[in-house]
Amino acid sequence: MSRILVTSALPYANGHIHLGHLVEYIQTDIWVRYQRMQGRRTVYVCADDTHGTAVMMRARKEGRSEEALIEEMNAAHQRDFAAFDIAFDYYGSTHSDANREICAQVWGALRREGLVVEREVMQLFDGEAGVFLADRFVKGKCPRCGTPDQYGDSCESCGSTYSATELVDPVSTLSGARPEVRSAVHLFVRIEAMHDFLAEWIEEPGRLQPEVANYLKGHFLGEPLRDWDVSRPAPYFGFEIPDSPGNYWYVWFDAPIGYMAATREWCALHGEDFDAWWRSPDTRIVHFIGKDITYFHALFWPAMLKAAGYTLPSRIQVHGFLTMRSEKLSKSKGTQIFARQYVEANLDPAYLRYYYASKLSSRVEDIDLNPEEIAAKVNADLVGKVVNLASRSARFVEATGLSPEYPDDGGLFEQGVRAGAEIAEAYEAADTARAMRLVMALADRANEYIDRMEPWKLRKDPARARDVQDVCTVVLNLYRQIVVYLAPVLPRLALATERLLSVPITRFADATVPLTGVPVAPFTHLIQRMDPKRLEELMGVVEQPAPAPTFDDDGAALAAEPLAPECTIDDFAKVDLRVARIVQAEAVPEANKLLKLTVSLGGGVTRTVFAGIKAAYKPEDLVGRLVVIVANLAPRKMKFGVSEGMVIAAGPGGKDVFLLAPDSGAAPGQRVH
Ligand code: 2FM
Ligand code: ZN
Repeated sequence: MSRILVTSALPYANGHIHLGHLVEYIQTDIWVRYQRMQGRRTVYVCADDTHGTAVMMRARKEGRSEEALIEEMNAAHQRDFAAFDIAFDYYGSTHSDANREICAQVWGALRREGLVVEREVMQLFDGEAGVFLADRFVKGKCPRCGTPDQYGDSCESCGSTYSATELVDPVSTLSGARPEVRSAVHLFVRIEAMHDFLAEWIEEPGRLQPEVANYLKGHFLGEPLRDWDVSRPAPYFGFEIPDSPGNYWYVWFDAPIGYMAATREWCALHGEDFDAWWRSPDTRIVHFIGKDITYFHALFWPAMLKAAGYTLPSRIQVHGFLTMRSEKLSKSKGTQIFARQYVEANLDPAYLRYYYASKLSSRVEDIDLNPEEIAAKVNADLVGKVVNLASRSARFVEATGLSPEYPDDGGLFEQGVRAGAEIAEAYEAADTARAMRLVMALADRANEYIDRMEPWKLRKDPARARDVQDVCTVVLNLYRQIVVYLAPVLPRLALATERLLSVPITRFADATVPLTGVPVAPFTHLIQRMDPKRLEELMGVVEQPAPAPTFDDDGAALAAEPLAPECTIDDFAKVDLRVARIVQAEAVPEANKLLKLTVSLGGGVTRTVFAGIKAAYKPEDLVGRLVVIVANLAPRKMKFGVSEGMVIAAGPGGKDVFLLAPDSGAAPGQRVH
């Protein structure tokens, strides 16, 4: 049986997950969920990338062991991923026995193939900290253009690359000391021996995006490949090389092997055969990575796998970076937003999942994080087009359920079925932007249908109850079809829709058969509108205060109705004002001023209120709005029924009535003090 093994790049254990990371995990998770919905056996593994100087130095600074540090980070990473619905089958760590063993085994194969050579390397050594300095831990003047404060590998000003020993006036960023040049023996892999193989391998159709293959040809494969330095002298946090005491594998040697180690641990838990996953032509291995690590995954990694006799990746899917207002997000500039901050700001993960899905194509392009654009997309598409279909129809069939037979819908459902093939193709290609466009085109058609059929009007005529049921059956089926197509992106919406219509959504093919005769559960909120300010605040770009405004309120209203006699705080406290949500609104045909409103105080507690606002508001515009009501007003019998409260509004009356609305964040049932 064929299998798909999917990975995302292993995040470093020395930092928390941020929104930049999530581009990749969300993209991968969508692809994995899509494959599963097609019934394909798909396993998604990941792990923390734990080794290297950065973790070692941070643990030292915090006065604890590396193990304690990486354990804490592993838990934090898993918690953050879970909050964004990233559904790994297994999440491991590169600091594991399985990884150590597979590293040794791959290493043995490289040795046997004669691919390992030893060479003296001159490296900067920080005598105060007692460590060799990785390029990122040394700064100095660029040896080419003289710009100060540049890292040990490349200059941000002139773009040239060099080795750290060439830096002018180098300083260790660990201790501030001036490092000395020391020589040490390093072990190298002669990757050039694999040149022809790699040049052919990257050209295989479907393996890499065309621009990625071109980049590799243009930057690396046009000349002999340089030997790859895979060892670091002690002290180093990692695995000691068994046949080279005092030397450790460089973090980039054991990190990708972590993909295999995670698979092996998953296999052990599930009684699976590891070789069936990593040594079988029946497994499709798919790596999702960012463009900055293409070189490791598309050159070194296949070379290692080939030498050690493992299955090579079928596909490497590369994505661009996340930029913020077109600048690359970076920790050093303090512009990164952490996953945790997003969650703590009560922003729905669905917003980010949908936004990334609608921006990611199969090309290697950067995505810009723009709060206004995210809110506009979420509010227009998800709330305005998708959820709105259910919120404008479900209540009308709550009592009856869906029609026993699927009514004539003019071919709309069938059109949706046919679109499924194209949507599937877009998902397969990781072109989720296209998939989202296709789905939204279906949503547009469904909205045209409901706008034309106006079930809220049909409802007023008791003789047309059957038509209402039929129209809503069509709308809810079109809605569900859309949700099935969106399920890889919005798994929670799919779950809520399962509950609404009491039928599970598990396969893409669930979009091909309309539901009939099933009950419809009471409609509950699916996705809230997004307020871009919450994200803006996280980005630290709260707008400049506007110049003090001037007002010319003329006093006519106050003059027309002077203030009432003074009351005490106790008098005021007798009036129980509450936030409430209008869940139903309809005109009272016999009364020309009244609307009959059903308002919810939450938890299933509702009140019927007759409000004299017919000239000012259309009933369908009110459903879903938050208002303030007098909740303890004695019930009042009216000609058309009993009014159980009062909705608070301002204005003289007629068309000039203005409902009071709480700021966003308020919840039904809250008291107004
Ligand atoms: O670039 C990074 O964040 C690395 N930690 C990715 C490692 S991916 C894999 F090869 F392990
Ligand atoms: Zn320079």
